[in-house]
Amino acid sequence: MLGIIGAMDEEVLKIKEHMEQVTVETYAGMEFHRGMLNGKELVVVRSGIGKVNAGICSQILVDKFGVEGIVNTGVAGSLKNEINIGDIVLSSDAVQHDMDATGFGDPHGQIPRMDTFSFKASEKLIELAKECCERVNPDIQVFVGRVLSGDQFISDKEKKQWLVDTFGGYCTEMEGAAIAQAAYLNKVPYLVIRAISDKADGSAGMDYAAFEAKAIEHSVKLLMEMVARL
Ligand code: ADE
Repeated sequence: MLGIIGAMDEEVLKIKEHMEQVTVETYAGMEFHRGMLNGKELVVVRSGIGKVNAGICSQILVDKFGVEGIVNTGVAGSLKNEINIGDIVLSSDAVQHDMDATGFGDPHGQIPRMDTFSFKASEKLIELAKECCERVNPDIQVFVGRVLSGDQFISDKEKKQWLVDTFGGYCTEMEGAAIAQAAYLNKVPYLVIRAISDKADGSAGMDYAAFEAKAIEHSVKLLMEMVARL
């Protein structure tokens, strides 16, 4: 069974609308919706925002539901000029950009005493998502690259540039790398799928809500196709 974590209500709602035989269980104040979608059993949950919510949510998916994989969908800020609003980024790997133990001599992003710098996503899920995205969202671009996560909404040009220079990320958001870490510790495959809602430089302004809605449409479409082909 696959676990799907959505950062926001709107997105989880769209997926839930298409599910059948749904039962709901609540843990840590999070509603886990288990049911069938396109003939496949899955569990969908809104984790809430930020790394701690996302980490807790992932662990519950493993412990209570025994999921065989975790997919995180949501929106993100683009870190590359060629990645436009509405485009999709699939995680090659994920790093927590706000982890800073440089005082110990670790590079930015390195979690001290962990045996990896970044958490690699499942090749199988990347390939499947890429194929599905090209099929159902032919009008947008899909990229595979590093996802940067931190408990910060990035809307500042200088901070954005620092992220690009330090980590070489493709997009930035607030949950993916926490889910990736939980998946790594539990030896469960994962994938982050993010639709670009803004350029992470404060330029979106009043259009943000409209961009976000369009971005969510793309990621939900992709997810539905993916589940059908699992
Ligand atoms: N989610 C969507 N856009 C974001 C940004 N610019 N920073 C962090 N999380 C985001």
